Amino acid sequence: MKRIQGKNALITGGSRGLGPYIALALAREGVNIALTARSEEGLIATADDVSQFQVTCKTYPADIIDSTSRIALLENVKKDFGHIDLLINNAGMEWVSAYIKLAPEFIDTMIQTNLTAPMILTRMILPMMLEKGSGHIVTMSSLGGKKGSPYSATYAATKAGLIEWTQGLREELRNTGVSASVICPGFVAKAGMFAVYNKPAPKITGETTPEKVSEAVIKAIKKDIGEIIVNPGATFLMTAMDAIHPGIMTWEVGS
Ligand SMILES: NC(=O)c1ccc[n+]([C@@H]2O[C@H](COP(=O)([O-])OP(=O)(O)OC[C@H]3O[C@@H](n4cnc5c(N)ncnc54)[C@H](OP(=O)(O)O)[C@@H]3O)[C@@H](O)[C@H]2O)c1
Repeated sequence: MKRIQGKNALITGGSRGLGPYIALALAREGVNIALTARSEEGLIATADDVSQFQVTCKTYPADIIDSTSRIALLENVKKDFGHIDLLINNAGMEWVSAYIKLAPEFIDTMIQTNLTAPMILTRMILPMMLEKGSGHIVTMSSLGGKKGSPYSATYAATKAGLIEWTQGLREELRNTGVSASVICPGFVAKAGMFAVYNKPAPKITGETTPEKVSEAVIKAIKKDIGEIIVNPGATFLMTAMDAIHPGIMTWEVGS
């Protein structure tokens, strides 16, 4: 079991949705928090909530798909915190639409946000973790990365990429003291990108909560678990069966 009290975490997507829940859960464990997203207002609101805990929390407005912004972000976090022990690659975007209706530039933006940015941020932070011989990267994928669904094909591609990337990276990092985990939430109620649609989740998956997702992040770090699917019901079994025989699990989600 890894101890995380007193560590420093950089959390992307800290302005709304699941990010604030992850920040609160880590702060409750005594982790200092560097929060980033584009919306300064959202970051400040999260930092206000985190201030109930005796940890340092600072905000860094940045656009993670902009390379200059990424460099400035890491320079500023390093200046304030000295070291980053935990990177939580949580920021992401989703757009439910027929693939044919998506502008090519929009497809590129989704890939940059969901896949390229977490990979590059990790590449930038890994040297300092390896030098210290400790650290953990947690990346937010999705149940959508386990099974491509209609009207979310690009999203599914990025999230599947994160799962495979984490698996490979985790093996590369074996015995270095640094590790990587991927979290695959299903449909999250109450907060985040699915909750804003205000639609019921498919019966086969059911809904999970932001608190369960945050618990999974902490469990993944403390117990060094490679992948956690956060969902009630038979989803884990269904994805395992689908991996053996693709087609067993079909999605019921429409546009
Ligand atoms: N909610 C769900 O049901 C669910 C299910 C499975 C997986 N997930 C995954 O969980 C993660 C969090 O999702 P969520 O539901 O919290 O989404 P959300 O409510 O839409 O929040 C997305 C977060 O990402 C940030 N972000 C987006 N683009 C950015 C950019 N270019 N630069 C910096 N920050 C950016 C947003 O902040 P700004 O707009 O302020 O920049 C916001 O803080 C995502 O990776 C998502 O794919 C969510």
